[in-house]
Amino acid sequence: MAKYQELVEQLKRQIQAGIWTPGDKLPSLRKQAEHTGTSLMTVLHAYQLLESQGWIVSQARSGFRVAPRVKESNIHQTSMAVSSTEHVDINEFIFEVLQAGKKTQLVNFGFAYPSPDLYPRYHVTRALSAAARNMPISNTFDNLPPGNEQLRSIIAKRYAAKGIEISPDEIVITAGALEALNLSLQACTRQGDWVVVESPTFYGALQSLQRLGLKALSVRTDPTTGIDIDSLERALQTHDVKACWLMSNHQNPLGFTLTDDKKKQIVAMLKHYNVALIEDDVYSELYEGGEPDSPMKMYDDTGNTMLCSSFSKSLIAGLRIGWVVAGKRALDIQKLQLMSTLATSAPIQMTLVHYLTSRNYELHLKQLRKKLAERKKKITELLESRLPSEAKVVSQSGGYFVWVELPKQVDSMQIYHHVLQKNISITPGKMFSPTEQYNHCIRLNASFELDKHHIRALEVLSNSIISQINSKKIGTS
Ligand SMILES: Cc1ncc(COP(=O)(O)O)c(C=O)c1O
Repeated sequence: MAKYQELVEQLKRQIQAGIWTPGDKLPSLRKQAEHTGTSLMTVLHAYQLLESQGWIVSQARSGFRVAPRVKESNIHQTSMAVSSTEHVDINEFIFEVLQAGKKTQLVNFGFAYPSPDLYPRYHVTRALSAAARNMPISNTFDNLPPGNEQLRSIIAKRYAAKGIEISPDEIVITAGALEALNLSLQACTRQGDWVVVESPTFYGALQSLQRLGLKALSVRTDPTTGIDIDSLERALQTHDVKACWLMSNHQNPLGFTLTDDKKKQIVAMLKHYNVALIEDDVYSELYEGGEPDSPMKMYDDTGNTMLCSSFSKSLIAGLRIGWVVAGKRALDIQKLQLMSTLATSAPIQMTLVHYLTSRNYELHLKQLRKKLAERKKKITELLESRLPSEAKVVSQSGGYFVWVELPKQVDSMQIYHHVLQKNISITPGKMFSPTEQYNHCIRLNASFELDKHHIRALEVLSNSIISQINSKKIGTS
């Protein structure tokens, strides 16, 4: 086959797979020629042929774009392998939903953290007062980036106990995992760069992309096996991706954990394409059963992975202490932190040092894991018994989220508004994608004790879901 024909076929496949969507601008002739190792004439010939067949359109001085309406018959695939979003615009919506979740008296299945009754409040309060009593005033300056030395050393030892070698010098202490993730993304991208995220992904990733003016490539992600490796590779081949923001353990919102093989494959692929990995591992302590899960960072020998985590999900969110194991970007991240927040709160870092050295964190974690598993099981069973078979309840080992997939026609925003009036909050699927692909899904926090209020709330929610499903059936019959 002639080279221009090969390129034509390749681009058709990519449009069919949803890698290029209607309106997307294709790479310039020069870039495409560089990328495919062909001549400008070959690319021009291929683009002209695609244009004559209605796949793409040319626009004066702005190159070629995918045709706004690629002929229906050209597209076979309904769920997109990769979808691109040049302007992520989701923060307003997320802000509104999170604000609504602040109402008092709410049964808060939309909450992002474990039920507050699972915090070791007494022991942490004691550590807080011990830190305040013993903190020399000079300590404030000792805690400038990269953060408290003792705390970094404790974190490194905890990784070592799991067989992961990390030097305390690689660790930067941050205000929760979110600051770690934001600084990591900032350290490896510039405005306008492409970043791969899972589809669906944690909404904080989308907010971060929006804040930094980055473009999203959402890659198909299976609820149980995680990100689709072939689609990921296609995204890396077709776009100049600078970073991937992924979760390997107890992903939010779906709950899957990648197998070790898949973790290795992803790290090897990113090494091949020289793309930075931002690994969000905030749920790693919340596994079920004997063995902890390893981060992808464990398989990286390039220093190109930034592993971000915190004590927010395993101890208390309000302390706002997290960290990034920053690899080769440790210094860059410290400099960025110095320019933004200056440093993480010294007394709170000391509190954690006190708590982690004088209290039995392991015992707390053991009890927390057990309680979370029990509570999630009960809530899952109740949902499964109430909901019709069209509602798929995805509840996986570890973490505390349950993902509910409803028939495609159902709009979970209607359910969200309906139950909010009755003082129940849920997280609508729309929060987890820039492309509104998950508007028929819901994420629920299953870390709550199933008392009478929660049972009643789940009944109200189930009834609301059932009536939405039924109204769509009537509407389509
Ligand atoms: C996947 C994920 N990453 C990061 C965060 C933020 O963590 P932190 O509270 O430590 O900033 C959350 C909180 O909801 C989360 O679910």
